[in-house]
Amino acid sequence: MKKKIFALLLTTMLTVSSLAGCGSSSSDGTKGANGTLKVGTNAAFPPFEYVGDDGNPDGFDIALINAIGEKLNMDVQVQDMEFESLCTSIGNKIDVAIAGMTITEERLNTVDFSDSYYEAVQAVLVPKGSTIATADDLKNLKIGAQLGTTGEFIASDIEGATVSAYNKAVDAVNDLNNGRLDCVIVDKNPAEVFGSQFSDKLDVIDGTAFDFEPEFYAIALPKGNTDLATKINDALKELKNDGTYDSLVKKYIEE
Ligand code: ARG
Repeated sequence: MKKKIFALLLTTMLTVSSLAGCGSSSSDGTKGANGTLKVGTNAAFPPFEYVGDDGNPDGFDIALINAIGEKLNMDVQVQDMEFESLCTSIGNKIDVAIAGMTITEERLNTVDFSDSYYEAVQAVLVPKGSTIATADDLKNLKIGAQLGTTGEFIASDIEGATVSAYNKAVDAVNDLNNGRLDCVIVDKNPAEVFGSQFSDKLDVIDGTAFDFEPEFYAIALPKGNTDLATKINDALKELKNDGTYDSLVKKYIEE
C-alpha cells in the first residue's frame, strides 16, 4: 500500500515537473519567452549546414536546432564561424554549437555534448577512376581535409601522408580537382554532396573500406551546465518521438 502511494506520488511529481519543464519558469508559451539561444555553426558542411539562398545558414542542423528552440520557447540566433573556434567560443560568443560535430575525447576536455543525434563515418573523395581502395593505398599520399576536423586527425595518422588542412572542406575539394591532392577525407554525407557536384571528376569511397570508425554527431554544450543539457536532450527526445526528426532527415539528408 505504502509503495503504491509512493509510486502515485512520484508519478504526480513527475507530471507536475514535466509540465513545468514544458512551459518553463517565466514562459507564457510565446515564442522566445525563455530568451535567446546563441548557436554557433560552420555553414560549409552540406547537407548539415550551408549558406542558404537568402544568405543565412540553413541545413539539417539549423532546422534541428530551430525545432529544439521552439520546444524550449527560445529564440535561436545562429552565427556562422570557423569550425576550429566553435568549442572555445562556447560560454562567451555562443551558448552551444551544432556543426556535424563528432563527440571526441579531446573535445570533451573543453565542452559537454548532448545525446548524439546522428551516426556518421568519414569518406574518401578520389579522382574518378582512381585505384585507391584500401587503407594501405592511402599511405604516402597528399591528403586534404578541413582544419580541426576528425578527417584531419585521421589523415594525420596515416603513414607517410602529407596532410593539407583547409578552412573549408570545399577548398580541399577544389585542390583535389586541380590535381594538388590525391584525395580528401571528409564526413560521408558532405562527401556525397561534393561528389555529386563534381560527378564528372570525383568518386566517393565509404570509409568502412578503410576501417574508419563510426562517429557520433552531437550538440556541443557548455561544460557542467546540466540544466541546459537536460532541456536540450528532452527536446531532442520529443522531436524523435513526434516524427519531426525523421521528417528533417527526409527533407535535408535523404532528398
Ligand atoms: N564531424 C567532423 C568533426 O567533428 C567534421 C565536422 C565539420 N563540420 C562543419 N560544420 N564544418 O570534426
